[in-house]
Amino acid sequence: MDNMFSIILCVLFLFTIRSDAISSSLAEEGTTFSVSSAQPDPSNSSNNTIKTNKKQQVPFETTSTATTEVTLSDGLTLINTDPSSQAYYVDAIIDSEIYPLLIDTGSPYLWVYNDNCTDSSCLNKQLYNASQSHTYATQTFELSYSTGSASGIVTSNNITLAGLTLKNFQFGAASEVPDIFSIYNFSGVLGLPNSNQASSSMLNPAEGFKIQGTTNASKFALCLGEYNSTYTNAGVIGFGADFEQLHDGQLYYSQAISNAGAHWETLINNIYVNDIQVVFDSVQVNGANSTVQRIALLDSGTTAIVASANDATKFHSLFPNAVTDGSSYAILCNSTSIIKFNIGGETWTLSPTEYLGKKYGDDSQYAGYCASNIQGMEGFDDGTWVLGATFLKTVYVEFNIDESTIGIANRTSGIKLVASNSSSSNYYGTHSQSSVSNSSSKTNKSSSASSSSSDSGFSIHHSSSALYTLLFVAFSLLL
Ligand SMILES: *[C@@H]1O[C@H](CO)[C@@H](O)[C@H](O)[C@H]1NC(C)=O
Ligand SMILES: *[C@@H]1O[C@H](CO)[C@@H](O)[C@H](O)[C@H]1NC(C)=O
Ligand SMILES: *[C@@H]1O[C@H](CO)[C@@H](O)[C@H](O)[C@H]1NC(C)=O
Ligand SMILES: *[C@@H]1O[C@H](CO)[C@@H](O)[C@H](O)[C@H]1NC(C)=O
Ligand SMILES: *[C@@H]1O[C@H](CO)[C@@H](O)[C@H](O)[C@H]1NC(C)=O
Ligand SMILES: *[C@@H]1O[C@H](CO)[C@@H](O)[C@H](O)[C@H]1NC(C)=O
Ligand SMILES: *[C@@H]1O[C@H](CO)[C@@H](O)[C@H](O)[C@H]1NC(C)=O
Ligand SMILES: *[C@@H]1O[C@H](CO)[C@@H](O)[C@H](O)[C@H]1NC(C)=O
Ligand SMILES: *[C@@H]1O[C@H](CO)[C@@H](O)[C@H](O)[C@H]1NC(C)=O
Ligand SMILES: *[C@@H]1O[C@H](CO)[C@@H](O)[C@H](O)[C@H]1NC(C)=O
Ligand SMILES: *[C@@H]1O[C@H](CO)[C@@H](O)[C@H](O)[C@H]1NC(C)=O
Ligand SMILES: *[C@@H]1O[C@H](CO)[C@@H](O)[C@H](O)[C@H]1NC(C)=O
Repeated sequence: MDNMFSIILCVLFLFTIRSDAISSSLAEEGTTFSVSSAQPDPSNSSNNTIKTNKKQQVPFETTSTATTEVTLSDGLTLINTDPSSQAYYVDAIIDSEIYPLLIDTGSPYLWVYNDNCTDSSCLNKQLYNASQSHTYATQTFELSYSTGSASGIVTSNNITLAGLTLKNFQFGAASEVPDIFSIYNFSGVLGLPNSNQASSSMLNPAEGFKIQGTTNASKFALCLGEYNSTYTNAGVIGFGADFEQLHDGQLYYSQAISNAGAHWETLINNIYVNDIQVVFDSVQVNGANSTVQRIALLDSGTTAIVASANDATKFHSLFPNAVTDGSSYAILCNSTSIIKFNIGGETWTLSPTEYLGKKYGDDSQYAGYCASNIQGMEGFDDGTWVLGATFLKTVYVEFNIDESTIGIANRTSGIKLVASNSSSSNYYGTHSQSSVSNSSSKTNKSSSASSSSSDSGFSIHHSSSALYTLLFVAFSLLL
C-alpha cells in the first residue's frame, strides 16, 4: 500500500494534473450540457433494438438474497484474472497441456506462444511446440500492437475450451510476442471476433464449435467479474447457448455495426451522468452527425473504458470538481453519480464502485480523489468508446456471430457456481494464480478493406491493416 501511494505521487508529477484546467473548461462548456428535463426519454431515442420481448422463461428466477447454484458444464467454464484484475483469461487444453489464454473480443483469432519464441514475454510460460504438429505451416500471421507485434506460423491441432473440443482447429503459433505481455502469465490470446473477415482460415472458436456440430449456434456469452464459488474465478465464458440462469430478465439486442471489421461494435444511443445527457462535439456516427450517439466497441481485452480525450473531458465535466491531465481523469471518491449507457434500447448503469479506480493518497494534493476508470486517448476521434472490463463486469453479454448481434442483460445476482460431476470437470479452477494481460483492439477502419483482400494467398497479413492497442497499459500509468 505504501508503495502504491508513492507510485501515485510520482505519477502525479509526471502528469501535472491541474485542477484549474477542468474548472475553466467547465465554465466554457457549461452551455453545452443539457439537463434531463429537456431531453427525450432515453428509451425513445434512436432505435437500434432489433429484437424485443424475447423474454425467455428463466427457470431460476432469483431475488438478490437467494443463492442459486449454477452448474458449470461443457460449454461453460471459469475465467480467471491477474491480481490487479487487468486481464481476463481462460484455460485451453492442447495435447494435454494447459495454456491460459487472454480473452480478447478485439483480436481476430486464437494464437499461442510458440516454443521458439525468445522474447521476454515467452520466458517461464507454457509454450506450444508447433514443430510437433502434423500440419506443416504454409501460412504466417502477423498482428500489430501499438507496442510491438505478434507474428508466427498458422498451425492446427485439437483444442479443448470450456470442455468442448475443436478438432484440427487452425490457430497461430507466435515466435514473436510483444514485450508488453511479459508481466502476465498467459500463453496466448483467445481472439473472439465478430466474424471471420480478418482471416480466411482461422475461425472464432464459437464458429468452429458450430461448424463441427458441437453446438447449435455460433455465439458465446461473457460474464466478467467474480461469482460466489468454491473455485477462484473472475467470471464465466460460455459457448453456443443462452445461459439463462446467468442473466436476470431478457437480453436486449442491438445489431453489430457491419463495417467495423471483426470488432464487436454497436450504437450507443446516448450516455447519461445522473440523468443529464452528455452532449459531445459532433462526430459522424454510423453515417450521421451526432452530438449524443457514440459507438461502443465491446472489448474484453481492455481493462477500462476509453474514449477520445475530447469526449472524456466533456463527460467528466459532469462530475463536480473532476480533474484531468488531458488523458487521465480523477473524480472525488465520494461521488454518488450514476453513469448510464443506452444500448439496445435499454440503459446500463455504472455505479461509483464500478467507475472509481484507486484512491489518491491522503498526503497527496489530490487527497479525496480516485482515478476514473474512464480514460481519454488519442485515436478515438471517430466517436468510439471502448467498453472494456469496467463495463463488461456489470452485465451478461451475448456475442452472436450468426446474427451479428450483441445482446446485453443484467447479471443474475446471488449465484453460486458449482462443478458438474462430469469427468471433464477437471478443467475448472486449475489455475487459481495464472494470469493474463490485455491486448486490445482498435482497428483502423479506413484501411480495413485491405485485410480481407490480402487473404487469398498463403500468407495472412494484418500488420498494415489493423492496429491492436494495449489499452490497459496506458491506463495503469495513471496509477
Ligand atoms: C416516449 O415514447 C412513448 C411511446 O411512443 C410516448 O408516449 C412518450 O411520450 C415518449 N416520451 C418522450 C419523453 O418523448
Ligand atoms: C424499433 O425497431 C423495431 C425493429 O426494427 C420496430 O419493430 C419498432 O417499432 C421500433 N420502435 C420504435 C419506437 O421506433
Ligand atoms: C503469475 O503467476 C504467479 C505464480 O502463480 C503469481 O504469483 C503471479 O501473481 C502471477 N502474475 C500475474 C500478473 O498474474
Ligand atoms: C519457429 O518454429 C516454427 C515451427 O515450430 C517454424 O516454422 C518457424 O519458422 C520458426 N520461427 C522462427 C523465427 O524461428
Ligand atoms: C519440439 O518438437 C520437435 C519435434 O518433435 C522436437 O525435435 C523439439 O525438440 C521439440 N522442442 C522442444 C523445445 O521440446
Ligand atoms: C484430434 O482428435 C481426433 C478425434 O478425436 C483424433 O483422431 C486426432 O488424432 C486428434 N489429433 C491430434 C493431433 O491429436
Ligand atoms: C441442438 O439442437 C437440437 C434440437 O433442438 C437438440 O436436440 C440438441 O441437443 C442441440 N445440441 C446442442 C449441442 O445443444
Ligand atoms: C455464497 O454461497 C453460499 C451458499 O452456498 C452462501 O452461504 C454465501 O453467503 C454466499 N456468499 C456470497 C458472498 O454471496
Ligand atoms: C457532418 O458535419 C460536417 C461538418 O461538421 C459536415 O461537413 C457534413 O456535411 C455533415 N454530414 C452530415 C451527414 O450531416
Ligand atoms: C466529497 O469530498 C470532497 C473532498 O474530500 C469534500 O470537499 C466534499 O465536501 C465531499 N462531499 C460530500 C457530499 O461529502
Ligand atoms: C438492471 O438492474 C437494475 C438494478 O437492479 C435495474 O434498475 C434495471 O431496471 C435492470 N435492467 C434491466 C434491463 O433489467
Ligand atoms: C453429483 O453426484 C452426486 C452423487 O453421485 C449426486 O448426488 C449429485 O446430484 C450430482 N450432481 C450433479 C450436478 O449431477
